[in-house]
Amino acid sequence: MKEKLEKIRLEALGQLEAADADIEQIKIKYLGKKGELTAVLRGMGALSAEERPIVGQLANEVRAAIEAAIAEKAKEAQAKALEQKLKAEKLDVTMPGTPAPVGHIHPLTQVQRELEDIFIGMGFSIVEGPEVELDYYNFQALNIPENHPARDTQDTFYIGENVLLRSQTSPVQVRTMEHQKPPIRIISPGRVYRSDALDATHSPLVHQQEGLDVDKGSTMGDLKGTLEIFAKKLFGESTRIRFRPHHFPFTEPSAEVDVSCFVCGGKGCRLCKGEGWIEILGAGMVHPFVLSNCGIDPEEYSGFAFGLGIERITMTKYGIDDIRLFYENDERFLEQF
Ligand code: PHE
Repeated sequence: MKEKLEKIRLEALGQLEAADADIEQIKIKYLGKKGELTAVLRGMGALSAEERPIVGQLANEVRAAIEAAIAEKAKEAQAKALEQKLKAEKLDVTMPGTPAPVGHIHPLTQVQRELEDIFIGMGFSIVEGPEVELDYYNFQALNIPENHPARDTQDTFYIGENVLLRSQTSPVQVRTMEHQKPPIRIISPGRVYRSDALDATHSPLVHQQEGLDVDKGSTMGDLKGTLEIFAKKLFGESTRIRFRPHHFPFTEPSAEVDVSCFVCGGKGCRLCKGEGWIEILGAGMVHPFVLSNCGIDPEEYSGFAFGLGIERITMTKYGIDDIRLFYENDERFLEQF
């Protein structure tokens, strides 16, 4: 019987050593109810009283050894399975992810911010005002009474008899002057409206930025110096500016301001249409009538103002020939900025 037990031990342990040992099968074969070891134990009744405890002990030892080996093997198998699972499900968190498409700042906003930066650098602050405006602020306070011809060139959309979509950001100047004592130094960016049909150079909605400086002894020379620094910062150090006489109801004297063409330097090219100069702004000294309308004594204070179209500046800067591209949101266009 002892030999039988030793044989069982050897066999069982031997089988368990095999790499692909079937643990369940071995367990049943040796330790199960109908297993070989169990069969040996059942036959113990036939043994003598002296032999029984010795064989019993040996049987227990064999059982313990097989059980230990099975447990060991099971642990190994578990570890192996875990390792395989980890290998299969490996995730490299340092791998680059799939980039989600993100947009960026619209070219008009980019240029607007660039302009804001330039003027903030010269001590101007940004002021905003309503797009739905009173006739008084958009026209009358700016020396454009009813039936003034300038109302034709700035025809806009009316919400009521005296309420309209502002055609310029100049009303922000009036609102500021009403509430603030000089010195005043502001720019006012924002949307403006005109009843223009949409084509390559016109849009019923465009963006403007106006500037206003009111102080004791503010002169045309200050205006020119301010705009010259602005033009150089925006178009490059070699840029020059020139003033051409013009008329705006709210400034006197008034001028249209050109910059030397930054492509040809003034020789004449396609961008400047052979002129050497590109018109970018309207400007002038604030009309005394406008100052007194806002409660500022024109005998004590003077001021200069200027206004520019952000679309026009952006089109000039980037050589864009159709204003509609700004509003169509075609990615092929927008991606280029
Ligand atoms: N508001 C004028 C326009 O829209 C521009 C301008 C502003 C001209 C300030 C002179 C001074 O045409």
